[in-house]
Amino acid sequence: MDNGHHSDGSDGAATLGVGLISVGWMGKLHTRAYQAIPVVYPELGVRPRLVRAADTAPDRAAYAREVLGYARASADYRDVLADPEVDVVSICGPNHVHREIAVAAAKAGKPFWIEKPVGRDVTETADVAAAAREAGVETSVGYNYRGAPAVERIRELIADGTLGRITNIRSVFYCGYAAEPKGALSWRFRREFAGSGALGDLLSHVVDLVQYVVGPIGEVSSLLSTVHTERPILPMGSGTHFAVIEDGEMAPVENDDHAAALVRFAPGPYTTGAVGTIEASRVIVGPQCGLAIEVYGTEGSASWNFEQLNEFRLCLGRGGPNVGYTTVLANASMGDYSRFQPGPANSMGFDDLKVIEAKKFLTALTGGARLGATIHDAHQDAQVLAAVAASSEDGLWHPVSTVPDATYGRQPHAEATHA
Ligand SMILES: NC(=O)c1ccc[n+]([C@@H]2O[C@H](COP(=O)([O-])OP(=O)(O)OC[C@H]3O[C@@H](n4cnc5c(N)ncnc54)[C@H](O)[C@@H]3O)[C@@H](O)[C@H]2O)c1
Repeated sequence: MDNGHHSDGSDGAATLGVGLISVGWMGKLHTRAYQAIPVVYPELGVRPRLVRAADTAPDRAAYAREVLGYARASADYRDVLADPEVDVVSICGPNHVHREIAVAAAKAGKPFWIEKPVGRDVTETADVAAAAREAGVETSVGYNYRGAPAVERIRELIADGTLGRITNIRSVFYCGYAAEPKGALSWRFRREFAGSGALGDLLSHVVDLVQYVVGPIGEVSSLLSTVHTERPILPMGSGTHFAVIEDGEMAPVENDDHAAALVRFAPGPYTTGAVGTIEASRVIVGPQCGLAIEVYGTEGSASWNFEQLNEFRLCLGRGGPNVGYTTVLANASMGDYSRFQPGPANSMGFDDLKVIEAKKFLTALTGGARLGATIHDAHQDAQVLAAVAASSEDGLWHPVSTVPDATYGRQPHAEATHA
């Protein structure tokens, strides 16, 4: 195998040394995804080995060694990048450490899988994209919802013309993780650590999903708002952002709870004349992890919500005796469903989407097609988020700048011009 991985000789599979930076929620999920690869995708011929982890919280570094099974662990991410047995790096810290660590990983020649939205703003994400391009390292970004079988099917129904000309979309990410007013002030609520709020944390997923499924967003008109203006402090590296603290010391919320935009798509194969709305909230009451997309075309429409991950609704045609929606269950003909379950309604879960993401990363790394979210796609997503932030400041429509090399698993759309 190329890229410096070592064949262990026993079954022909090549050992891939994994380095993990930050052992929070996503750090654990990346680890489990690498571990699943030889079982779910044996044809890749990759046998990940957990080499070294780092987390500034000592108990989390110890957990990486003692529970997750990394051979070595410490507080300093530089130890991971300097370890000669580390072939790939997962970067799963809070957003404020992403630029420094990812640029250092690129300079060390280590391919990396980094969590969304990458930087705190578009400038930081652009720096990471530039470093990866210069170093020529493969990248992957944690836009895991792309891998849902229903999402892959809806994307096909657009690309093969089944839905007709796309007229409009509606996509939301309604989360309730901070709906409780005494919900913890984790790093996600502080500009220094997160950058924006629901915009970067949640609308980033919406923007990536819409651009992956439908096509490039060309301009936006937006608003941001904050619903709960102070919360009880949660120290970095403890608890989760779902925690509720009854008698804690309060501090101000520094970023948005809610982000919304009208969008006009840039001209593209499936987007000419299309418009839509995108919206995200972290304080909504009711939905919990409601990432949803509705796509409307002249011949049909389709809608999916992550809360019903294993199904989507489809309407084909404008009338007739069966007018309206049919519920389609995820099945072996959709995306990578059959890798996880043998028949419909046996239900995949969130972790499985991370396994698919790891597969796309390792496929590209071993010379196959580049189907996952790359740092360049994430840079394009960040351009949309920057336009949303700017529009919320001045109330005007803002065009979205186009970056080089963002492909969303298709041909480059760099030649697209904005309406
Ligand atoms: N793809 C998704 O669906 C998804 C879901 C949740 C989070 N995320 C992203 O993943 C990233 C991490 O989120 P999380 O929920 O896992 O966070 P978390 O709070 O669970 O974990 C963050 C970890 O980073 C550690 N850390 C802080 N500073 C560090 C440093 N300088 N060096 C090393 N470690 C450090 C903390 O101690 C903590 O263990 C964020 O960028 C977030 O946006 C993505």
